[in-house]
Amino acid sequence: MTTHSLLDRLSGVVGEAFAAEGMDASYGRVQRSDRPDLAPFQCNGALAAAKAQKQNPRALGEAVAKRLEADPLLAKVELAGPGFLNLTVTDEALGQAATKIAADPQSGAWARAEDAREKVIIDYGGPNVAKPLHVGHLRAAIIGEAMKRLFRLAGDDVLGDIHLGDWGLQMGQLITQLEIEQPDLPYFDEGNTGPYPSESPVTVDDLARLYPIASAASKEDEAYRAKAQAATTALQQGRPGYRALWQHFVDVSKAALERDYAELGVSFDLWKGEADVQDRIGPLTERLEKDGLVVESEGAKVIFVAEESDKKKLNPVMMVKSNGSVGYHSTDMATIEERVDEFGAERIIYVVDNRQSQHFEEVFRAAAKAGLIGLDRLEHTGFGTMNGTDGKPFKTREGGVLRLRDLIDMVVSEAEARIAEGEMGAEFSDEERAEIARKVGVAALKFGDLSNPRTSDYIFDPKRFVTFEGKTGPYLLYAVVRIRSVLARADSDGGTADIVVTEQAERDLVLELAAYSEAVEGAYQKRMPHLLCDHAFSLAQAFSRFYAACRIGDEADVEKRASRLRLVRAAADQLTNALTILGLPIPDRM
Ligand code: ARG
Repeated sequence: MTTHSLLDRLSGVVGEAFAAEGMDASYGRVQRSDRPDLAPFQCNGALAAAKAQKQNPRALGEAVAKRLEADPLLAKVELAGPGFLNLTVTDEALGQAATKIAADPQSGAWARAEDAREKVIIDYGGPNVAKPLHVGHLRAAIIGEAMKRLFRLAGDDVLGDIHLGDWGLQMGQLITQLEIEQPDLPYFDEGNTGPYPSESPVTVDDLARLYPIASAASKEDEAYRAKAQAATTALQQGRPGYRALWQHFVDVSKAALERDYAELGVSFDLWKGEADVQDRIGPLTERLEKDGLVVESEGAKVIFVAEESDKKKLNPVMMVKSNGSVGYHSTDMATIEERVDEFGAERIIYVVDNRQSQHFEEVFRAAAKAGLIGLDRLEHTGFGTMNGTDGKPFKTREGGVLRLRDLIDMVVSEAEARIAEGEMGAEFSDEERAEIARKVGVAALKFGDLSNPRTSDYIFDPKRFVTFEGKTGPYLLYAVVRIRSVLARADSDGGTADIVVTEQAERDLVLELAAYSEAVEGAYQKRMPHLLCDHAFSLAQAFSRFYAACRIGDEADVEKRASRLRLVRAAADQLTNALTILGLPIPDRM
């Protein structure tokens, strides 16, 4: 690790004092205080240490405090209650910490120790070919993109994979419906084995129209369903016309998906899909059959994963269904094998709806039993549901599932209305105003999602998401644009001036900047991007207070002015970095 956060340095110093008292240095761990009105930092180690050594905690606390008195990092050490240490850092130490953060391109972010870094694949797409991308996939994309950026910041070697749903029953359903509507297409004639026309017979809009019809017919009509199932199996077994048609479905869908995701600022390193691993399923199943892990059960080939102690009954993992087709279990199993074999994955993280937790539990157990990867290397980073204002999973007014595109349009038009209402954007061209509205809308949508603890449900409320006050995406965009404009107006960013702290509002801002390290670490360790949202919001607020309390561009003292400008620059950079990790697009002006 290259940077040592203020908290690390404090823990080091206090740890030494504990060690000098004959205690383990780890008792000296310092944390941000829960009573910042008393002191910004605290250490509660004296209580635990004294208990372990059967000593008096106050006496131990006093001894540690005495040793810390002369430390240049600490302005004040106070013993409180049964043995808490309240710690106040010197202004010199704060200035140094701020200068270091200002000089760091990562703004003092935490990173993993070099030897702990891993090759990680994050699976955060999961859209299904032919079905429109819907709100169920929205959270995966938003949270997954933030996780990918966070993991890269921490030093892991990360690949994001979209893992397209391109191999299930919906493909057979589409083939069936298209055959009903256009039986003369060359793909349906079993005698014709190609070559086929290179032009796609369908557009993505055609697919969006065909799928609901096919899916409804499958539910209502048993013969139709049997046909769709047979088509799926024939496709999976390689019938040439179906494969050619399938390729067109995938191609037109991918092009549309790429556009939708780009609009959200979401991208993938790998555009793999369930179909990519179909050649692995057979050999993998065979190998595991030899090992005795895969067994026959009611005509299917399965892996039993349930255990006595399970509270919920887990299903056997289906490698091959009794009708010969393969499904969600088998593609996920083979994908794990591929990720390890081909990409050297040491950890695989699935950013997928909480409602799929049982599926992943089943697959993870089977993969570990099969020796594909360790159980502790597979993570389902689930998330709650996005609900409408009625508290039920978000639906359109017609009751259908909303398309991602419509959702983005809703927040963007809300943003346009807000911008038109206020003075904001008055001097911009129509074109620039539209671009600002787009960024504000996307930031509102993404922050509205990310600022909730990942596992909680939340309410999609475009009006609330798009307000410029309070903890919202637009507020943070506005904050960063405003901070940058302070620098632009002053015509200087403080250069390499040392940051010198004298005012309370400066201390508070520096403490906030120094807390970025823990926010990044916490967000990473817990896989909880909202901790980064919390930090960005507190930082923006601390900046506002500093801005109200201190002269900056018009400060007469030349050194003070340079110091403050550099502090402003550090805040602008850190806020920019944090918002970029979260994936929010930042306009140049607002
Ligand atoms: N296509 C799936 C769905 O729409 C999500 C896939 C998630 N990723 C995975 N490896 N299973 O429900």
